[in-house]
Formats: sequence, structure tokens, C-alpha cells
Amino acid sequence: MVSNRLPVTFTVEAGGTRVPALSPGGLVAAVAPSLRGRNAAWVGWDGTDLADPEPLVLDDITLFPVSLDKDLVERHYEGFSNSTLWPLFHDVGVPPEFHDAWWEAYLEVNSRCAKQAARCVSLGGTVWVHDYQMMMVPHLLRQLRPDVVIGYFHHIPFCAPEVLAALPQHSELVAGVAASNIAGFQRDQDRDYFVQASGDSAESMTAKTYPISLDFAEVSRSASDSGVVQRAHELRREWGNPTTVFLGVDRIDYTKGIPERLEAYEALLRSGDINPDDTIMVQAGSPSRENVPSYQALRARIDTIVSRINHDFPRSHGGPAVVFLAQNLEREEMLALFVASDIAVVSSLRDGMNLVAKEFVACKNDNSGVLVLSPHTGAADRMVDAMIADPTNAEELQSAMIRAMRMAPKEQAQRMSALREEVRTHDVAWWASAILEDLASEAKDG
Ligand code: F6P
Repeated sequence: MVSNRLPVTFTVEAGGTRVPALSPGGLVAAVAPSLRGRNAAWVGWDGTDLADPEPLVLDDITLFPVSLDKDLVERHYEGFSNSTLWPLFHDVGVPPEFHDAWWEAYLEVNSRCAKQAARCVSLGGTVWVHDYQMMMVPHLLRQLRPDVVIGYFHHIPFCAPEVLAALPQHSELVAGVAASNIAGFQRDQDRDYFVQASGDSAESMTAKTYPISLDFAEVSRSASDSGVVQRAHELRREWGNPTTVFLGVDRIDYTKGIPERLEAYEALLRSGDINPDDTIMVQAGSPSRENVPSYQALRARIDTIVSRINHDFPRSHGGPAVVFLAQNLEREEMLALFVASDIAVVSSLRDGMNLVAKEFVACKNDNSGVLVLSPHTGAADRMVDAMIADPTNAEELQSAMIRAMRMAPKEQAQRMSALREEVRTHDVAWWASAILEDLASEAKDG
């Protein structure tokens, strides 16, 4: 495996001790379970700038850390990956920035990862490369190791070719991915845009749609652990035993539609459709890419909206109308939030898949609760029993939230059980084996 981040990210304390933490985001959560029992190695950034870090073993996966100095992190991660490619591929109104020095750093990091992968993969083995931070790895690795089978998976949306054309290095980037045997995408639209953008360079490879998922059985089981259930009861008590709890869970990212969601909630408070005394909104947001100016601006905007709502709508028995948890929550606490909530609002402006939608339904073992889901997510392609609402249309989002709040238990149960069945039968093992079986047949044919 090659991805920008390893499944664990380290921070270095004064004195040099490295402290591990689970890496953020859906990629690691989805990919790690699919590697168990496969004698896998994983190459990626370990979050530090320590020279020559030793390989580490996590469960049965060997991690080969690539350490990056501050300058490379700034130009590759904060720069080309998250200030050029991320806004370009999501295309939600944040303008991408173009700097040659960022592209050079991108090539340098991709090359380090390709070299490390070339050193640890066996003869004729398979390398699975992940996401937009690593799009040149298939090409660079192919040059070093023509014997290996290469899969690439694009976790985020792929933009229209005319949008991509604004990037000076668009041809190199697309050819970088086209050097893989198989490139996977979340949605048919993403695959089609890639095929259109790649033209002849993708003639000898396969581009296919594989919608990512999660370990449904594990999430569902963990959500029924007595500790989680008890914590969910405690949370509702802490929130003043509301009749309805709305929930948002995201990395704090401008693609997630967090202001749109909060403003929809605010509009419903102003119109009187929501009474803050019996209803609460909980917004969990893990801080993300905090050195990137567009993320700093978003955080300030969210803080302003939350303060305004909490100022204007005090609850008569105390506590805020919107609980904003801007922190990385422990896994158990996150599951308890899902269990304790009634309505999850996923209002992304554009999102590769959105595993929060799937996590929420996996936690609803009693078939209660409603999912309000943006059509601009990969999840919406198959989770058709959600309340689909476009967050760019304020009225549409508000009426979906009201309808969710008033939905009879019978309809909730019908929709939720259909959603759970969809995610249960299309879980992460289904996703991973679809890709790995296709890669295995490439290895056989090759
Ligand atoms: O799923 C999209 C993604 O960018 C992953 O590639 C990444 O691991 C995750 O979100 C978290 O983002 P970051 O690594 O920038 O914290």
C-alpha cells in the first residue's frame, strides 16, 4: 500500500519521544481492515521529519515510514495536495493555487514513496496506491519496477476535464495514474471524467468504479457495546434530554457544507420550526489542515455562526443550542454520538463518498433515526432511502430537516432498515475484494 499518511501519525514530543495516534479521515478507516491477514506493507508519511525512521509493525502490517521535512510538508501536503489539487478536484468555489515549486515537491514526495515501495514489494507483487496526494506514484514506480501490478484508487471526486485543464501539469498527472493497471473511482462520473481527461494515455489500463465502504459488522457491534450505549444515555442527559438531536460529523473542511448545515438549523430556529428547548444540534468537527488559509477562514466562519446561534437562542434550562465539538474524538465517544443522535445531516457540497453517512446507519441497530444526505456525495448513489437534500438550496435542506424531525417511527424504520441492508451487503470487504480480485487477475494475465 502507498498513501500519503500511514495509518498512524506520530507527533514528536520535546525529548524526542514519538507518540502515535490513529490517522484522520475515511481512507485509513476503510483501507486498514482490508489489509488484515495479507502480509502487507504500507508506505507513507509518518507525520514526522525524523531521518531514516525504522519500519514498524502494526497488527500484521509492516509500516515503512517516509519522513518529510517542514519544507516538503508545506509544498507537497499543504501546497500542491491541499491548496492545488483538493480545491481543483472538489470544485466548490475555493480557487486552486498554482506554483511550480509545489509541483516539484509533489514529484519529490511521490518519488520517495515510489522508491520505498519498489524496495519492499516482492517480484511480480501488487502495489495499491491511494489518493490525490500520490497520483505520480504509479508512473514513477512503473519505471523502477516494470514487473509489479499497480492499482490506484482515487478517494475524492475527479473533476471535469475542462476544470482540470487549468492545472499546468494536468497531462503529467493524468499520465501518472494511467501508468497503473487499474484505476478505481468512487462514482461513475469520476471514472468518466478521468477517462475523458486521459484520452489515449489510458488505452492499456482499466478505469472502474468501486464505491468505498466500512466494516459494517464491526461498527454495528461496537455501537451496541454496553459502554457505548451507556455513554449515549449520558450524552442525552448532558444535553438536557432533548426530544430531537441533530448531528453533524466532519473533518473541518469547506467541502463538507458545515456552514450551510448550521445556517439551515439557524433558519429553522428563527422561523420557530425548531424550539431550542426540546431540540439540539451537535456538530463534531475534527480540525484539519490548519496551516492552510482556506481552512483557517472556514474555521473562523463556523465559530462565528455557532456563537451567533448560541447567543440568539439560549435554552431556558441552560446549555447551548449548538454543541460544537472541535476536536478529535475517541472512537467510543464518536460511536456514542451516533447512537445518541436522531438525525444525521450530511450536507457536503462535494464528497468522494462520505463514510459518516454509512457509520451513522451502521450504528442504528434499532432502526431508529433519519439520514439527511447531500446528492453531491458518492454515498447518495446507493443510499437512496436517505432524505436526499441539496445543501446549495437552503429551502430544500431546511424542509428535509423538518421532515426528518417529524417522520413517523414506522417510516424511519423502513428507511433505516433498507439503508442498513445496503451498507451491510456492500461493506469494506466487498469493496476491497472487488479491487484486489481485479488486481489479482491482472497479475495472472500479465
Ligand atoms: O479521503 C480524503 C483524504 O484526503 C485522505 O486522502 C486523507 O487521508 C484524509 O482525507 C484525511 O486528510 P489529511 O490526511 O489531510 O488529514
